[in-house]
Amino acid sequence: MKDIYDDELYLKQYAPEFELVRSRIGEKRLTHSLGVAHTARLLAEKYGADPAEAYLAGLCHDIAKELPQEQMLALLQESPLADDVEVRQHHQLWHAPAGAVLLAQLQADYPRLTEAVQGACLWHTLGRPAMTLLESLVFVADLIEPGRNFMDLAFIRQAVWQDLQLGVCACMQGVIDFLESKNDFVHPLAYEALAYYKKKHKKEC
Ligand SMILES: [Fe+2]
Ligand SMILES: [Fe+2]
Repeated sequence: MKDIYDDELYLKQYAPEFELVRSRIGEKRLTHSLGVAHTARLLAEKYGADPAEAYLAGLCHDIAKELPQEQMLALLQESPLADDVEVRQHHQLWHAPAGAVLLAQLQADYPRLTEAVQGACLWHTLGRPAMTLLESLVFVADLIEPGRNFMDLAFIRQAVWQDLQLGVCACMQGVIDFLESKNDFVHPLAYEALAYYKKKHKKEC
């Protein structure tokens, strides 16, 4: 695959993990994952996180997304969200907790798939109040990576590069607005997280 994001050093450093992810998802999703990895590492450089770790977390965040539903469900049972009734009822929310469990299982062979990387995978769809820096980077990068164009992202991209917390807030608001406009399910934790970030920063987003 062509390195369209000029991340050669990171791809070299994480060649085993890249092959692992590539063996589990199709080309389109791999391109998305490389976009998330690229964006997360650029944001890490700006906001004082470890760019290499952010790159790895971005690369791995959708590792479980193409598993058969039975396998995703089996992994979900092992996750901290296993007893969350709303998550169980909405299969579009399974791949994040399932992915985190999968990464934990793979950690014996891939020691760089640390708990921090697993956490970034776990929360990348729902978000939550008080996310770690790495979780925040992957959460926003998933929405604003260069390949994303499913909603008007200009304001959100600007917010993310202006102030990370404001950007998290803008991403949460944008996703909730998007889901509500389609009458899709919004998990209560997403509303809780949005309220947390709005209150914390006393800013509209
Ligand atoms: Fe995802
Ligand atoms: Fe994603």
